[in-house]
Amino acid sequence: MRFTIVIILAFLIGAAVFAEIGQTERRLLRADPDALTADPDLRRFAVRRGQPLFLVHCAVCHGAAGAGDRIKGVPDLTDGDWLYGGGRVADIERIIEYGIRFRHPKTWSLAVMPAYGQPQPNPADPNIHPLAPGQIDDLIEFLLRQQGREANAAAASRGAALYAGDAGCYDCHALDAKGDAAIGAPNLTDAVSLYGDGSREALFLSIAQGRQGVCPAWIMTLSAAGIRETAFYVYSISHREGFHAD
Ligand code: HEC
Ligand code: HEC
Repeated sequence: MRFTIVIILAFLIGAAVFAEIGQTERRLLRADPDALTADPDLRRFAVRRGQPLFLVHCAVCHGAAGAGDRIKGVPDLTDGDWLYGGGRVADIERIIEYGIRFRHPKTWSLAVMPAYGQPQPNPADPNIHPLAPGQIDDLIEFLLRQQGREANAAAASRGAALYAGDAGCYDCHALDAKGDAAIGAPNLTDAVSLYGDGSREALFLSIAQGRQGVCPAWIMTLSAAGIRETAFYVYSISHREGFHAD
C-alpha cells in the first residue's frame, strides 16, 4: 500500500515538472529571442537545456566546447566572429534550423569559394577563370599584407590588382577583403581562420581547391523549442562576458 502511494506521488511530481517545462518552453517560443536581458530566468532555462542538446548533436563537429576544427573547416563558435549574420540569437537559430549548403530549400547557400586552381570550365562557376600558381601566390602576399603580416611588397601589389580585377575576389569578399556576412564570405583580413592555420600553404589550398563547408539542418531533428534552446546556448558561449548559465 505504502509502495503504491510512493509510486503515485513520484508520478504526480514527474508530471508536474514536465508540465512546468512545457509551459516554460512555450514562453520561450513566444519571446523575442533577442530581448535577452528582459527575462534572465527564461534565458538561464534555455541555456541549461541547450547545452546537452549541443553535446549530443553539435559537439561531434564543433567540439564539446564549441571551439571548432580548423583542419575540417568547422568554425569556432566562441570567437564572436560569424560567417553569416551578426551572431544574434535569431541569426544563430536560422543557421541551426536550415543549415549551410545542406539539402534543405531554405539552407544558407548563396556562394561557394571557387576552385581557382582548376582548369576551365570551372564546375562551381563558369565565369571563374583559373589562376596560375604564381598568381595565387601574389594574391596570398596581398592577403598577408591586408592582415598586417610580413609580405613581399611587389607580389602584394600584383595580388591587389588581381584581387580587385580579373580574379574577381572582391565580388564576394568585398573590396577591402573584410568579407560579406550576407553570403557567408569570410573576412580575409582578420586573424580568424576557418580553414587551416592561416599559413601561406593553407591559403593556397583554399584558393586553388575551393571550399564549401556544410552544416546540417536541424529542423527535421529538433523541436522548435530545442532549436531555440541550442541557439541560446551557442549565444552564451560566444558572449561569455556578462552572460552566464547560472
Ligand atoms: C557534420 C558536422 C557539423 C555538425 C554536426 C554541426 N555543424 Fe555547425 N557547422 C559545420 C560547418 C562545417 C560549418 C561551416 C559552414 C561553412 O563553411 O559555411 C558550420 C557552421 C555553423 C554555424 C555558423 C558559424 C558562423 O561562424 O557563422 C553555426 C551557428 C553552427 N554551425 C551551429 C551548429 C549547431 C548548433 C549544431 C548542432 C545542432 C551544428 N552546428 C552541427 C559543421 C557541423
Ligand atoms: C563566388 C564568391 C567567392 C569568390 C569570387 C571568392 N571567394 Fe573566397 N570564399 C567564398 C566563400 C563563400 C568562402 C567560405 C567557404 C566556406 O565557408 O566553406 C570563401 C573562403 C575563402 C578563403 C578561406 C578563408 C578562411 O578563413 O579559411 C580564402 C583564403 C578565400 N576565400 C580567398 C579568396 C580569394 C583570394 C579569391 C579570389 C581569387 C576568392 N576567395 C574569391 C566566396 C568567394
